[in-house]
Amino acid sequence: MSRSAHPAGPRHADVLPEGHYSAPPADLNTLDAKVWAQTVTRNADGVLTVGGVDVVSLAEQHGTPAYILDEADFRGRARAWRTAFGKDADVFYAGKAFLSRAVVRWLHEEGLNLDVCSGGELATALSAGMPADRIAFHGNNKSTEEIRRAVESGVGRIVLDSFQEIVRVAHIAQSLGRRQRVQIRVTVGVEAHTHEFIATAHEDQKFGIPLAGGQAAEAVRRALQLDGLELIGIHSHIGSQIFDMSGFEVAAHRVVGLLKVIRDEHGVELPEIDLGGGLGIAYTSDDDPREPHEIAKALTEIVTRECEAARLRTPRISVEPGRAIVGPTAFTLYEVGTVKPLDGLRTYVSVDGGMSDNIRTALYDAEYSVALVSRASDAEPMLARVVGKHCESGDIVVKDAFLPSDLAPGDLVAVPATGAYCRSMASNYNHVLRPPVVVVREGESRVVVRRETEEDLLRLDVG
Ligand code: LLP
Repeated sequence: MSRSAHPAGPRHADVLPEGHYSAPPADLNTLDAKVWAQTVTRNADGVLTVGGVDVVSLAEQHGTPAYILDEADFRGRARAWRTAFGKDADVFYAGKAFLSRAVVRWLHEEGLNLDVCSGGELATALSAGMPADRIAFHGNNKSTEEIRRAVESGVGRIVLDSFQEIVRVAHIAQSLGRRQRVQIRVTVGVEAHTHEFIATAHEDQKFGIPLAGGQAAEAVRRALQLDGLELIGIHSHIGSQIFDMSGFEVAAHRVVGLLKVIRDEHGVELPEIDLGGGLGIAYTSDDDPREPHEIAKALTEIVTRECEAARLRTPRISVEPGRAIVGPTAFTLYEVGTVKPLDGLRTYVSVDGGMSDNIRTALYDAEYSVALVSRASDAEPMLARVVGKHCESGDIVVKDAFLPSDLAPGDLVAVPATGAYCRSMASNYNHVLRPPVVVVREGESRVVVRRETEEDLLRLDVG
């Protein structure tokens, strides 16, 4: 890898072009602990290390791009959620954020449950030894085959998402001689955003059964009549990357309102309530996420207060964090291929991955930060845009970031907070191979999901 200085890009111009950035940080070598995995630091040579392994040797051993995941951090966050909610509540890790057999084993060992939303996720969970009764099965259009496998394997709960599914699951369970524990997912009429919730268009989406107009109450009525089902509770998931607890407050209020209607109409107090996932993480230094113990306290207080007011026994609470557990624990390690200064605009830094390993920037306009990690640099900051190698101008990994102006091909850069919804949403666009997931821990690294190969691609191409 070349470490030679590069003809400098535009020093950041006096007037910076439009973008989502503040002034360049005082020192580009400083790593903000908020966005990096817990064991990340720079060694005496200025090279970033994680789990006691430096990124130059990680790149040499495993190649780039690669997702580098800090096992101690993952376990620590999983444990913090588990501890925060205590024995009277359940934490279901949302596997859609990132799932592999190693992750399933860690969750099992740390006492968490698992939320899966497809046959593939269920197969991964079962193959890694997650007890079926600790699995919740989600999805708005589970196939008959998926439902059958879920019931047969004995999953702890299926979350019902439509009137058709209530009947479908009941029939399948009955035909297998089972009584399946289920929850009904309702839409409570709040759409959560990062710092606000907007009560518009909320029922206009594909998930759940609306509370509005008595539809959810009708769903409960039907589920209670079916022998194949044991209705254990109500489920609500209000959105993702949420910092403001007020959306949960409204959701809890409305779900408890439904529990009260059910008690009054059927004389049944449902024992569980699931408030979903969606808790935000820091992608950049501007984000201020809450700690699991604050979230647990807030949610428990809200539900307890609402139940007391409705004179209901407080149900067992469950939550489904995905991003908040895995998101901060990984970063993506890339090698810089080209550095292209555009006068008066910014410098385009092309890396060896892109929208196939992180679609979130293109899809959601997501913001990320980035750092030069294979060395320290005292060069002046330059305004950069980190882009991938795909044939698409929207192939942007980090839209606006400051990097040292001596950045050169061969340098390694890393984008933090890519543990959630990056590998799990990765694609083969342009037949680019999906990167491996490399786990680091106590000075050692190991591959838990290997890099895709051209043989993998050709194996699927049977024409
Ligand atoms: N529970 C349910 C029912 C969900 O639908 C989701 C996420 C979660 C839990 C976990 O949410 P989390 O705690 O990870 O925010 N691809 C998007 C996120 C989609 C989330 C879908 N459901 C992204 O990259 O931001």
